[in-house]
Amino acid sequence: MSTLQNKRILLGVTGGIAAYKAAELVRELRRLGASVRVVMTPAACEFITPLTLQALSGNPVHTALLDPEAEAAMGHIELARWADLTLIAPASADFLARLQSGMGNDLLSTVCLATRSPIAIAPAMNQAMWDASSTQANIAQLRERNVAVFGPGSGEQACGEFGPGRMLEPVELAAQLALQFSVQALTGKTVVITAGPTREAIDPVRYLSNHSSGKMGYALAQAAIDAGARTILISGPCALAAPERAEHVAVTSADDMLAACLNYAPGCDLFIGAAAVADFRPANVVEQKLKKTAADTMTLTLVKNPDIIASIAALDAAPFTVAFAAESEQVLDYARAKLERKKVDCVIANDISATGIGFNSDDNAVTVIERSGDTTFDRRNKMQLAHALIALLAKRLIG
Ligand code: PMT
Repeated sequence: MSTLQNKRILLGVTGGIAAYKAAELVRELRRLGASVRVVMTPAACEFITPLTLQALSGNPVHTALLDPEAEAAMGHIELARWADLTLIAPASADFLARLQSGMGNDLLSTVCLATRSPIAIAPAMNQAMWDASSTQANIAQLRERNVAVFGPGSGEQACGEFGPGRMLEPVELAAQLALQFSVQALTGKTVVITAGPTREAIDPVRYLSNHSSGKMGYALAQAAIDAGARTILISGPCALAAPERAEHVAVTSADDMLAACLNYAPGCDLFIGAAAVADFRPANVVEQKLKKTAADTMTLTLVKNPDIIASIAALDAAPFTVAFAAESEQVLDYARAKLERKKVDCVIANDISATGIGFNSDDNAVTVIERSGDTTFDRRNKMQLAHALIALLAKRLIG
């Protein structure tokens, strides 16, 4: 389990011989599950090429503050907002001085000024430069401002001298970085969530569907991300934007949703079926648009859709599986029956006959039904409810 899973690390590389270690550092951060974006100072580009770090990070490398193309895409403010943590490695004596004094005379120093993320530095310089009173004063002030200082190590230096000033090795640096992130309830866990309606085609222009907006499932995805989980959101058609860090898989029909679930659920830790899946679909999808006829009625023959959640609960190494039950009468009894029929670990029952909750509303109220007993959550905003539900489910997963 790595606390860097899903974390966004903005790596600033400044000019110094240790810049070559940035390549290994990027690899190590990615190996531990982090997304990495790199900003290089002009001096850093003299020691290692942006192309190397681009290839290793899988993202474009940013080098210039006034680059119209970059500003249109990932400009300095976007980069500053994107980061969960900004790490400067190697951090030269010159950069430390500029960081300490709040200068913004290149892209990296500007990003450091603009970011609200924590900042960490891995100094690397000649031992005499490290010992210089100005450098030590800068370091002391940066520490006072809660900048984490990793290293430097001591030993033989590239210039042939011995002493403190070597950048920590990438593996050690990445390990120290991981300690900056607290372990959250679902850190290291993978959660798969279905959301929204399914659409079952009748002909090229018509379909059967329902009123699910996706709000409940999307809120659960956000709450799972907030709890540190890798989160896969398999969603039927809805108008919502997927939470930024969710792996979003768009599907249309129940058959599509089943295929996606069977692809992602094996090996996951928690599966939540918040989607309103159509129980039936037209037996035949007509290829051309159906024409109006003289008859006053028409008959559609429907066939049963696969039961997605029952298929997941029946997997050999099934995840902790949670169904929703949308009921308009005898809510708890019908939900309890679903617990047994679908062989899931728990059912979250919502009363869709009550106004202001359930389908397409901002609020919901539910009872979580488990074999060990029930837990009721009164009416509240779906996002607040999602956080409460994820906290409860995290307890079931990790005890
Ligand atoms: O999307 P919103 O507008 O926010 O509304 C939220 C919601 C009301 C849709 C949600 O809270 C909810 O109750 N979702 C389940 C709706 C539903 O289809 O309930 P059901 O009782 O028909 O199904 C029970 C469970 O089996 C559900 O987990 C469902 O995803 C699953 N199912 C159903 C049929 C099927 N063929 N395959 C399934 O996996």
